[in-house]
Amino acid sequence: MESAEYHSALAALAWQIELGADECIADAPVNRYEVPASVQKPKPASQPAAAPVMQVGVDPVTVAQEAAGAAEDLDGLRAALAAYEHCELKKGARNLVFSDGVPGARVMIVGEAPGRDEDMQGKPFVGRAGQLLDKMLAAINMSRDESVYITNVLPWRPPQNRDPKPDEVAMMQPFLHRHIELADPDVLVVVGNHSCQALLGKRGITRLRGTWTEARGKPALPMFHPAYLLRNPAAKRDAWADLLSLQAHLRGEA
Ligand code: URA
Repeated sequence: MESAEYHSALAALAWQIELGADECIADAPVNRYEVPASVQKPKPASQPAAAPVMQVGVDPVTVAQEAAGAAEDLDGLRAALAAYEHCELKKGARNLVFSDGVPGARVMIVGEAPGRDEDMQGKPFVGRAGQLLDKMLAAINMSRDESVYITNVLPWRPPQNRDPKPDEVAMMQPFLHRHIELADPDVLVVVGNHSCQALLGKRGITRLRGTWTEARGKPALPMFHPAYLLRNPAAKRDAWADLLSLQAHLRGEA
């Protein structure tokens, strides 16, 4: 017979899942805010303790603008992002999710933020939504292996996949803008509300989708996010119309 302990452990697990704990990471919790002992320098006994380095007056957006602006190519931009320490999301993420696909491709897709699978693999759109995105691209004979470059507004996974916060978007925006400049696509495909907010300054994807606009000096097509299409299959019809519009635009027909 199963013990009471077994049942209470199972109930505790179900409760944690209910709260959003969807992965088991290690036996012991990790305090990512703690400075590891290996980097704590012992203070020389004869000298007074140094005053803490104050971050007063440091504007994360200005730091991001300077770091992004100094990047001369995509590798430099990736390195600048990896070195950027002002975004709290970095502390909770496993990996930086910079991009996937073909740098310099005619089409650059801008998603919102990495989810669990993307965080684990360090690549955008590799989970269920990404698999749908690949199918959508294949339907117009495109792929990330040959003809599309993909990135996100945020390069680190927000905890529990919560929505990006305005300050996080604001400090990542200079990197995104430089990313677009360096990748230099012919067109941008902006998927989902948060990406529209970051690049077009507007939301309301149901109204925006399918209508060509401009972002960062490039023609831009807002589209439904593939994760939304997974939840609302009826909207795939609109997504198909948008894919045909993208294809026509690339052929110079629209
Ligand atoms: N959703 C996004 O917007 N981006 C990803 O990389 C994955 C899911």
